[in-house]
Amino acid sequence: MGDTNGATIVIFGASGDLTQRKLIPALYNLFRKKRLPETFNIIGVSRTVFSHEQFRTQMHDSVKEFSPETFSDEFWNPFAQHIWYTAGDAAQPDQLAQVKSFVESKENGTSNRLYYLSVAPNLYPTIITNLGQHDMTSQGSGWRRIIIEKPFGIDLDSALELNKTVHANFDESQVYRIDHYLGKETAQNILFFRFANTIFEPVWNRNYVDNVQITVAETVDVGHRAAYYDHAGVLRDMFQNHLLQLLALVTMEAPNGFNANDLRNEKVKVISAIRPIALRDTVRGQYEGYIGTEGVAPDSKTPTYAALKLYIDNWRWQGVPFYMRSGKALKAKTSQIRVRFQRPPGVIINALNDESCTPNTLTLFIQPDEGIHLNFQAKVPDSSQDTRDVDMEFTYKKAFGEQQIPEAYERLILDALHGDPVLFTRSDEIERLWRIIDPVLKGWETKDAPPVVSYKQGTWGPIEAEKLLAKDNHTWRLAYKPEGTE
Ligand code: BG6
Repeated sequence: MGDTNGATIVIFGASGDLTQRKLIPALYNLFRKKRLPETFNIIGVSRTVFSHEQFRTQMHDSVKEFSPETFSDEFWNPFAQHIWYTAGDAAQPDQLAQVKSFVESKENGTSNRLYYLSVAPNLYPTIITNLGQHDMTSQGSGWRRIIIEKPFGIDLDSALELNKTVHANFDESQVYRIDHYLGKETAQNILFFRFANTIFEPVWNRNYVDNVQITVAETVDVGHRAAYYDHAGVLRDMFQNHLLQLLALVTMEAPNGFNANDLRNEKVKVISAIRPIALRDTVRGQYEGYIGTEGVAPDSKTPTYAALKLYIDNWRWQGVPFYMRSGKALKAKTSQIRVRFQRPPGVIINALNDESCTPNTLTLFIQPDEGIHLNFQAKVPDSSQDTRDVDMEFTYKKAFGEQQIPEAYERLILDALHGDPVLFTRSDEIERLWRIIDPVLKGWETKDAPPVVSYKQGTWGPIEAEKLLAKDNHTWRLAYKPEGTE
């Protein structure tokens, strides 16, 4: 399989935002940490014409801007010598042929190749087919792998179709469908928290858990991504991938082993057990001012916020409601998973019968303020029977010092280079995820759909989302409210 110590990383869509914000900074940091192979090339490809030097200068500025804590010329200068650029439209066969010759001219006998597809998603099928037709996917002289950015399809049918195109040109073992949430240290820790400890897993089921809330709130609005976002909306952008992946990690059974196949089998199993979501259990919102953004249709009904309730019909989770919400232009950026346990019998301690007395909750902080909080009742000192909830906290900062939590893309690119697909989404998994979201998207186009309600920017979203939980006598809760918020 060629020189396993060397690889060429070919980024299609090199002039795009992702390359500047995430991919090159991640590669730079991997280089800095000496994690990249000894011999490697990074070749940027996109339609705009740049010289190698111009591209390097742009990437230099990006790393400086997006990874300021780790940027230094001492590492940048040797790193930059590995970066090349070639202009070309990979969707055009003749231009891809030129790209291929350029890539080969830089390989110097190193022929392992990682393609990174970070172009407009409607180009995926053409580029993937082109790669196949130009004999750029066969693995005679070294491995060939491809990372495919999200969104993987825009609905179930297009995802099935895209998988077909992918499999006509690559073997599934060469394919790395990325969901950067799986690369987050705190998302990976969900499985370690559950399966590297004795005390949590026995209560991780319907006998002890009352409900689970997953909040992924963002302060940013759609910004300059409106042209993409207005066609996508929050369900495709955040739920089909990130939120459902978090849910799968929280709810899956223990895999037989910590390897890609066993782990993904368990994820697919639990995702398959999700009951079709009732439209009445969904809320869709759009922040005020969304219409008017450049790239947004004047009568757009695209939701920038959604909340929903779902159930998992399996032995472990039968009857436990899972509430999920995500939106843009909200009050704070915070991703939290809150597991609320059942109320203990109030036969001994009267205070427990008071509704305001919170049952135990465990909150996993995905970001920021990464950590885990356990909230439980304690006796108020010098009272006879009063209780108050108190917190037991683990924070990455306190436990692991100032050591930086690596960017998700670092881990994921490295795993793809090492050929470890454990944190990537398998073809059947992506199809299962669409089977959950697709009916909601279709349902939202019918007369039974909940209305698109507007919400003020800088709030926690529409009141309808509160009502969704109020029907079950619950409220959305955050264990920690970022500073300056209530
Ligand atoms: C991306 C979405 O996948 O995730 C964006 O397309 C969103 O709309 C982003 O802002 C959120 O990622 P993070 O890592 O900032 O939570």
